Amino acid sequence: MVTHVVLTGGIGSRLWPLSRKRMPKQYISLFEGQSLFEKTVARNENLADKMIVVGNIENYKMSNTIMSKFDRPFTHIVEAVPRNTAAAIAFAAFASDPDDILLITPSDHIIEGDELYEAALKRAIALAQDDYLVTFGIKPTKPETGYGYIEFEEENVIAFHEKPDFKTAREYLSSGNYFWNSGLFCFKASKFLAELQAQEPVVYETAKLAWESNKNGFLNFELSLLIPSISIDYAVMERSKTIKVVPTRFEWSDLGSFESVYEYLVQKNHPVDANKNIVIGTSLHTTFIGVKNCILIYTDDALMVLQKENSQEVKNVYQQLEAIA
Ligand code: GDD
Ligand code: MG
Repeated sequence: MVTHVVLTGGIGSRLWPLSRKRMPKQYISLFEGQSLFEKTVARNENLADKMIVVGNIENYKMSNTIMSKFDRPFTHIVEAVPRNTAAAIAFAAFASDPDDILLITPSDHIIEGDELYEAALKRAIALAQDDYLVTFGIKPTKPETGYGYIEFEEENVIAFHEKPDFKTAREYLSSGNYFWNSGLFCFKASKFLAELQAQEPVVYETAKLAWESNKNGFLNFELSLLIPSISIDYAVMERSKTIKVVPTRFEWSDLGSFESVYEYLVQKNHPVDANKNIVIGTSLHTTFIGVKNCILIYTDDALMVLQKENSQEVKNVYQQLEAIA
């Protein structure tokens, strides 16, 4: 039994003002009138037997609206407060049978190439049946510091390094033995819980306690606050000795920052001027003079001009910006 677990807890703060607290990036209809959440469900619909959505109290109505377009039952786990991905995945594992294979996916990534995706998934499921934690490796193209790096030898994972500093990322890139971690995972529910219990017993125990008191999938606020907030990458992947990696060839972007949105749009023939400036969100005639590599983002109530290289900094000013608009 394969269960598709969709994680939809993020608010996409690095994509302000496109992505907002009340309308995070996975719910915006950016692509052919579809949201990334909807595309994620559609991509996996025929590849899994069951589905679990793990979201939160702020977004469960938006998730339900999208899920109503699909004619299929699903389990909805609604977090009272985000406690990061180790706990979110633990809830899905507690809600499953021990032998169920969980395919964990973010809800806000672009993946293209259905056949290549299916082939990677098939291999991952076979490895997960053999009790491995399975990751999906992306060939790195730059020393990105926002990703996890997988040190590999064929399908074996030597080590997993989450979000290295720039110098280390540059070394990984030039060594050629590292993949980026795509953020998708595949494993048996029992395997993940056993690893979590071994590596982060407090996260395991507090998440179990919170899960056991859920009401129709809604988690209790006070019990949730006791769960340490840590991602699966730091909690489990950096420490486990039984990880495999499936190298992928499908097109992948996490659209995690305006730099990756820029790269994606340019590749899709979005207009770019001679100085590599682009405009997102308006058909107003826009002219850039004397500036290069800029992204202008226009929404109903906000306007931002950004030097592409500074894309990661949007997160730092997000809180101020969100308070204004
Ligand atoms: N339900 C729930 N609850 N979902 C969550 C929570 C939470 O508390 N926190 C994050 N998520 C969801 C996000 O919405 C996203 O879909 C996914 O889990 C991953 O979280 P991010 O916060 O986006 O992680 P990241 O981008 O910093 O890093 C991860 O993804 C990279 C690739 O995009 C890591 O797995 C990296 O190793 C990886 O390279
Ligand atoms: Mg992300």
